[in-house]
Amino acid sequence: MLAAENAPLGDREFRRIVDLVRTRTGIELADSKRQLCQSRLSRRLRALGLTDYRDYVRMLDNDASPEHGELVNAITTNVTAFYREMHHFDFLRELLPKLAKTQKRIRIWSAGCSSGEEPWSMAITIREALGDCAGLDVKVLATDIDTQVLARASAGVYEAENIKPVSSKRLQTSFTKGTGPNEGKWRIADDLRPLVAFKQLNLFAPWPMQGPFDLISCRNVIIYFDTENKIRLLRGYHKLLGENSHLFLGHSESITPGVTGFVSVGRTAYRKVPA
Ligand SMILES: C[S@@+](CC[C@H](N)C(=O)[O-])C[C@H]1O[C@@H](n2cnc3c(N)ncnc32)[C@H](O)[C@@H]1O
Repeated sequence: MLAAENAPLGDREFRRIVDLVRTRTGIELADSKRQLCQSRLSRRLRALGLTDYRDYVRMLDNDASPEHGELVNAITTNVTAFYREMHHFDFLRELLPKLAKTQKRIRIWSAGCSSGEEPWSMAITIREALGDCAGLDVKVLATDIDTQVLARASAGVYEAENIKPVSSKRLQTSFTKGTGPNEGKWRIADDLRPLVAFKQLNLFAPWPMQGPFDLISCRNVIIYFDTENKIRLLRGYHKLLGENSHLFLGHSESITPGVTGFVSVGRTAYRKVPA
């Protein structure tokens, strides 16, 4: 009998998984991703005690199966880092005091926050730019479809390897050293925690938030979607952004042709204008 890791992912099963993933997440799995898909799902097969993708796909025929969530968790790409694309945090540091001059309420959405390094880097930036935010109401909403990374994000406990991009000064002010089971790890400081709220959200399901947001950061997320979904998402962001607001995209992303209402104001940073 084949072990889960050697089980071949047949054409029919791959097509079914591609369809399911597209419908449930908007993520496009090109044919070139078949090997990657197989290696990510082999862990699911092993966890379920299966050795054949036909049985796995049969399990997914049941729409109510909890395996749908596990499939999404296994397929998403969650690469992230503290201060990834530093220029956005410099931009935010300059933007925040300007916003605070004219408004008390500041709302930021980290859409596709993965394991939290992005929203926590934003929270640190908020403290640095606005101090204790006295008299202000500042919040970062951090969302992701993947429940596993989201749990890590809200725990806010990171391995020494993850905090390498964090300066030693910021480590002192914004983290505490883990103890007990977190020995050797770094924990986001308590005073930063009220600034960030984590929620599971599929970007292609209805959004419960009303906005308006002053900044939406959707970096290294739309790259996985097809053109139609990119347009749908960017138009949705435009609606939810307030006046004088901004959008950040990832380093290899840009405003999809056909979408209006965003002008470039720096590296993958856009200001909302009337569409
Ligand atoms: C590569 S990570 C980017 C993390 C962070 N924004 C950054 O740039 O470092 C992409 C994230 O988008 C999430 N994602 C993918 N499809 C999604 C969807 N339909 N709804 C919500 N999140 C999604 C994935 O789970 C993943 O954590």
